[in-house]
Amino acid sequence: NTGFFTFDPGYVSTASCSSNITYMDGENGILEYRGYPIEQLAKHSSYLETCYLLFYGELPDTKQLEDFETNINNHNMVHEALKSFYNGFRRDAHPMAIMMGVTGALSAFYHYNMDIHNKAHRERAMLRLIAKMPTIAAWSFRHAKGLPFIYPDSSLSYSENFLYMMFGVPTTPYVANPSHVKALDVLMILHADHEQNASTSTVRLSGSSDANPFAAVAAGVATLWGPAHGGANEAVIRMLQDIIDSGKPLEDFVARAKDPEDKFRLMGFGHRVYKAYDPRARIVHEICHDILRELPEDSPHKAMLDTAMKLEEVALSDDYFKSRNLYPNVDFYSGVIFLAMDIPLNMFTVMFAMARTIGWISQWNEMREDEQSRIGRPRQLYMGEATRDYVDISKR
Ligand code: SDX
Repeated sequence: NTGFFTFDPGYVSTASCSSNITYMDGENGILEYRGYPIEQLAKHSSYLETCYLLFYGELPDTKQLEDFETNINNHNMVHEALKSFYNGFRRDAHPMAIMMGVTGALSAFYHYNMDIHNKAHRERAMLRLIAKMPTIAAWSFRHAKGLPFIYPDSSLSYSENFLYMMFGVPTTPYVANPSHVKALDVLMILHADHEQNASTSTVRLSGSSDANPFAAVAAGVATLWGPAHGGANEAVIRMLQDIIDSGKPLEDFVARAKDPEDKFRLMGFGHRVYKAYDPRARIVHEICHDILRELPEDSPHKAMLDTAMKLEEVALSDDYFKSRNLYPNVDFYSGVIFLAMDIPLNMFTVMFAMARTIGWISQWNEMREDEQSRIGRPRQLYMGEATRDYVDISKR
């Protein structure tokens, strides 16, 4: 014990909360949004319809969905003054740093009479966030590339509009690859919410102090960035590329991941809750095949997917992983799809943040709806020094 707290895991109490939004069964690999299985939503729903479901609790009828989509389209521009925030970032700033900064800055534009106890105000915050996150995200990429910002085109679908703002060229018409639009929409459904994960818990905790919801969501962006959480999708690709470049057998890397002395872990493997295959990873894996089918046989993205699939096979045949119920999670295959869609590595977690925004703001809203909800205050187990008297510096 070097004076830092060392908890006996048996004592660590995990803060818990009740929620009606997302159900996970980690032992059986089940995930449901408001009671609907993730597999059915991925197959039949759209990201915006899933946003409606997560926030309001029910699937919309035709008129409700049309009104919701129109509302989102009416708010997908950002205040022109917000654009100048991007110029304050270096070109090589990580897009997640920009996302964190610009999302937090929204609280400077939309905090006027933001009464968090007012349902209409909370709904307005949700609409603004869902509408503006794709614009903020795409402009983070455009800034890094030194490209002109593309304004949203409300004639396009949500996911198509994002790809347009990412890859559009002002001088020529933009035509999105329909399989990329579909794949992105499904990936965003899969990443939309996930119960009380680290970033959602951060949004709930910061929101519990009556903080501005845009500031609370910026705190969620910061938490998601970590490679143990949302940053894993970027870390998986770096790991796969290192494996390919090394020319070493996959077994060497699986052996390193098992070595307690080696800090190396198989990124995209394991989960705090799932002790079975992450149901989202299965669906992402299928999308991989759909997207890569369009690519030439010698595409480096196919080699990347091939390496990932073989790595999964080697790891899941190893007792260390089987005995610890370590399976691929949502991040293991998602990066391969983003690469195949020409989305750069440092934008992967931005994609995750854009998709998870509805989960964060829906969970924040649920907490605010509960008039009994109080400021979060996790308890601690003090393991430090017993009471002692001050010693003058001359006697130390
Ligand atoms: C996300 O919470 C959510 O819902 C998150 C998320 C969401 O949608 O919000 O699902 C998104 O964050 C997915 C996870 C992305 N992170 C990674 O892929 C990073 C690699 N994974 C690990 O760092 C790890 O698995 C965690 C952080 C995800 C979970 O860590 P835990 O809780 O320590 O895992 P555990 O308790 O199940 O570990 C049991 C054992 C330990 O070894 P022993 O002490 O038993 O010897 O398994 C080992 C761990 O060291 N282990 C791994 C491993 N993950 C756990 N060993 C090698 N490689 C790994 N990836």
